[in-house]
Amino acid sequence: MDEEYDVIVLGTGLTECILSGLLSVEGKKVLHMDRNDYYGGDSASLNLTQLYRQFRPDQAPPTELGRDRDYAVDLIPKFIIASGELTKILVHTDVTRYLEFKQIAGSFVYRDGRISKVPSTEMEAVRSPLMGLFEKRRAKKFFEFLQGWKDDDPTTHQGIDLDRDSMRTVYEKFGLEPGTQDFIGHAMALYLDDDYITKTARPTYDRIILYTSSMARYGKSPYIYPLYGLGELPQSFARLSAIYGGTYMLDKQIDAIVTDTDGKFVGVTSGGETVKAKQVIGDPSYFGAGSNSDDGKVRVVEEHKVVRAICFLKHPIPGTDDSDSLQIIIPQNQVGRRNDIYIAMVSSTHNVCAKDIYVAIVSTIVETDKPELEIVPGLSLLGPIHEKFFSISPLYTPTSSGEADNIFITRSYDATSHFETVVEDVQDVWKRVVGSDLVLKKREVEVQG
Ligand SMILES: *[C@@H]1O[C@H](CO)[C@@H](O)[C@H](O)[C@H]1NC(C)=O
Repeated sequence: MDEEYDVIVLGTGLTECILSGLLSVEGKKVLHMDRNDYYGGDSASLNLTQLYRQFRPDQAPPTELGRDRDYAVDLIPKFIIASGELTKILVHTDVTRYLEFKQIAGSFVYRDGRISKVPSTEMEAVRSPLMGLFEKRRAKKFFEFLQGWKDDDPTTHQGIDLDRDSMRTVYEKFGLEPGTQDFIGHAMALYLDDDYITKTARPTYDRIILYTSSMARYGKSPYIYPLYGLGELPQSFARLSAIYGGTYMLDKQIDAIVTDTDGKFVGVTSGGETVKAKQVIGDPSYFGAGSNSDDGKVRVVEEHKVVRAICFLKHPIPGTDDSDSLQIIIPQNQVGRRNDIYIAMVSSTHNVCAKDIYVAIVSTIVETDKPELEIVPGLSLLGPIHEKFFSISPLYTPTSSGEADNIFITRSYDATSHFETVVEDVQDVWKRVVGSDLVLKKREVEVQG
C-alpha cells in the first residue's frame, strides 16, 4: 500500500465516524482504522461476551442472562435530543435510512426524596406533584414567559433582557424556589452544575426551549434512541463513508504515528507497513491516553473523570409507571453534591437485551476518592440490582489544535446525558481539519410509537 489518503482516521467511536462520514461526502479520500474487531471504540455497544471480556475477564457470561446476540449494552449512556444537533446531522446526511428510532418513554427528576416526571409546559407544571400550589402558579407564569418570548417584541420581555440579566435574576423575578430551579436548570436545561445561574440567561433559555420543543415532537420525552443500541450510530456513519469511497479496516494494531523532523504528520504504521496521508484524526487512546508512552498530545481533565455503573435489573425502575426506558436526573443540590447524578435506562423494547432485563446506567462526575459511594443515591432508586459493572473513565482532551502538525485529536465522551457536546467536538475538529464551518440542512426524522 503506497496509496496516499487525504485523511487517516483512528478509532471508530461516534465522533470519528461522523467525521469520516462527513469528510467522505465532502470528497476526501478517507482510510479509517480501529484496533478492535468491532465498531464504536469507547462509544460501542457490547454483546454479553464482549461485556464480560471487558469487565470480568475471568468469568463467562451466566447462561441465565440469555442469548449473546440479544445484547447491545452501551458503554456510554447518552440519548439523542429529538430536536438537537445530532438529529440534524443524521437527517442532513440521510444516515437515518440505516437506523430505526424509538422514543425514550420518560424523563424524570428527583426532588425531596422522590422521583417525578419533568413538566415541560405550563399545563404540565400545573399538574406536577413536584411543586406546591403557590409554586405551581409561579412556575406557570415562568413557562408562559419563556414560551411567549419574542426577541423583537419588547412587550413579551417583562423587563428582562436575556442577554444581560443573569438566570438568577429571571428566577427571582418569578420567585421560584431553589428546588424548582433545580429541576429547571438540571432536568430541562441539562446543566451538570450550578455555574449557569450567575451567567446571562440566554443560553439557559435556549436549552429550555430545546427541551420543550423536543418534548413536543414525539410526546413522551425529549429523547430518541436507535434500536439495537447506540453502537448503531458509528456503524451507520461508517456505512455512509463507505458509500462515498471511504475504506474501513477493523482489528488493526497501530504500531506508530509517523512524523517528519518538524513533528508534522506523515503516516500511520500498522503491521509493518506505513500508510501516508495529509492529516490524521483519532481518539485520545491512539495518542498516548491511558498508556505510559505519554507523548504530550493529550491530557486528562482532572475535574471531569466520570464514574459509571452498568446495572442489569429484572424489573422496571420503581415509581416510573413501569416505563420501558427513561432518564432520571438527580440534581446535585438534592443530594449535597456539586455534580448531578444521571440514570439512563433502556430495555428489550430497544433490542438491547433479553426480554425482562432492564439495563440502567448510573453515572456522575467524580468528586471524591470513593467514586463508588458517590453513585449510591442513583443505585438506591433502582430496586434490587441483578448485575453491576463498574468503571471510572478519565476525560482526555488534546493539548493542541493540530493545525501545526496535522494531528487532530478528538475528546473523550463526557458526563452529559446527550450528544450535544459530541457534535460540538465534531464541529470543532471539522473546522480545524477543513478550515471552514460545518453547515447542515434540516429535514424530519421518522420515529416509532
Ligand atoms: C459477540 O462478540 C464476540 C467478540 O467480538 C463475537 O466474536 C461474537 O460473534 C459476538 N456474538 C454474537 C452473537 O454476535
